Amino acid sequence: MKLKMFKISLCTLIILLLLLIYLRDKNRFYKNIKVINKPTKIDVLVNKNNRLDKFYRPRDLVKIDEKFSNKDKYLRKIACYFFEKMSKDAKEVGLNIIAVSTYRSYFYQQELYNNYVKTMGEKKALLASAKPGHSEHQTGLALDVMGSNGDYNKFENTPEFKWMRHNAYKYGFILRYPKGKEHITGFKYEPWHYRYVGKKIAKEIYENNITLEEYKARK
Ligand code: DAL
Ligand code: ZN
Repeated sequence: MKLKMFKISLCTLIILLLLLIYLRDKNRFYKNIKVINKPTKIDVLVNKNNRLDKFYRPRDLVKIDEKFSNKDKYLRKIACYFFEKMSKDAKEVGLNIIAVSTYRSYFYQQELYNNYVKTMGEKKALLASAKPGHSEHQTGLALDVMGSNGDYNKFENTPEFKWMRHNAYKYGFILRYPKGKEHITGFKYEPWHYRYVGKKIAKEIYENNITLEEYKARK
């Protein structure tokens, strides 16, 4: 009898704890927002609690070679250099990695976010798209890619995804919104979204299976 009671109260305690963790994570996003004061840093953390100035636009945006991107796509010079290098090496083993969405201004992100809200409702939009100022696409260091099936939404099913999952870090890129880390990043799993952070940081993040948020918290 005593053992049964103990089991019941232990279960209640665990459920309560899980509920508390869920509520804490749920209410953490878009609260106590800090304005980023060094937006050009290569490891800059842009997320639901850290935002960029409305008018921030990187000064060193360059156009990606159209062999590896859709028309007129821009990234910061260093991210572009390593993205092209990665795509070129992938091409040599028969893979096609194409950048479909790269640098986005505050105002473009605003249009995107509003469209998401209109088409899927606010709750789903919040998990799929950052509010303006909160998207790391505005840093010019992030990009969405597609592979041989020509659909970034289905990137996970491609050989390009498999290759990138274990090789992108060698070029300084990380999978920014991994599966199972939604409570940390605030966004649903995005197999197509990569972020340039430089080779050293990318290796640490890849090897420890962590997010940029977790990496920054360790430093
Ligand atoms: N889809 C990512 C989270 C963005 O909107 O920046
Ligand atoms: Zn993206």
